[in-house]
Amino acid sequence: MKSDNNCLSINSDKLPMHVAIIMDGNGRWAKKKLKNRIEGHKKGAAAVRDIVSAAGNIGINILTLYAFSTENWQRPRTEVNALMKLLENFFISERDNIIKNKVKLQVIGQIWKMPKNIQAFIKELADITEKNTGLILNLALSYGGREDILSAFKKIIKKIKSDKLKPDEINEETISSHLYTAGLAEPDLLIRTGGEMRVSNFLLWQIAYSELYISKTLWPDFNKEEFFEIIKAFRLRERRFGKVAE
Ligand code: FPP
Repeated sequence: MKSDNNCLSINSDKLPMHVAIIMDGNGRWAKKKLKNRIEGHKKGAAAVRDIVSAAGNIGINILTLYAFSTENWQRPRTEVNALMKLLENFFISERDNIIKNKVKLQVIGQIWKMPKNIQAFIKELADITEKNTGLILNLALSYGGREDILSAFKKIIKKIKSDKLKPDEINEETISSHLYTAGLAEPDLLIRTGGEMRVSNFLLWQIAYSELYISKTLWPDFNKEEFFEIIKAFRLRERRFGKVAE
C-alpha cells in the first residue's frame, strides 16, 4: 500500500465513515478486451488492492466490498474456483501490507460455505488484526442481504425461545445488532461500478439512508482518482435522513 499524493486534496472534513462497493463489470471488461471472464476478475483483484490502499490513506473508517454473493455460487465451476483462488492470492499477497497498515480485517456472510483454506486465512488475519485501529476492511463473502436478515431473524427467535429476549423488546436496534454487520456503522456511501441501477441483494437493511453513486466505469478500470472524485461528490450531498434541511 503506497502513500497517495492525490489524497492530499481530500481532508478529513465530511468524509464518509463507511463506504460500501458493489464491484461490478469484470465480465464486461474481459469481453470488451476479447479475454476470458477470469482475466476480468484478475484485473478486478488488482483494483481491489488500489482502492483498499486509497481508502486507508484518506482516513475512511470502514470499506465493505461485495466480493462474492450468495448467488455467485451458481456461476460455472471454473469461474467460482478462479474467484476463490484470487481471494486466496489476495490474503497471501496482502497479509503483510494489511498488518503493516494497521488494517482490521472482518468478513460478513456465510463464511462457513467458503473453502476451508480461505476460512483459515480469514481466521488467522482477523485474529492478528483484531485490535488494529486503521481501516476496517470488511469483505462480503457468500453474502446476501436477504440471507443476512433471515439469519438475524433466526438468532432473534432462538433468544426468544430461550427467554433471553421478550418479543415486546424487539426494535430496529435488535435487528441491526443481529446482522453480520453488528457493531459497524451503516454505510454512508454505496458505490456501484459497471453502470447497472441495481442493489443486487447487498446490505438491504443497512443501506436505508446511504447515498448511492453509480459509476459507469467497469470495476477493473476503477481507480483511486475516480474514487476520490466520488468522495468529493458525496461531500456536496445534503443528507436529510427523511427530515427537512436545517
Ligand atoms: C462482478 O463482476 C464481480 C464479482 C462477481 C466478483 C468480484 C471479485 C473481484 C473484484 C476480484 C476478487 C476479490 C478480491 C477481494 C480479491 P461480473 O463478473 O458480474 O461482471 P459483469 O456484470 O460484467 O459480467
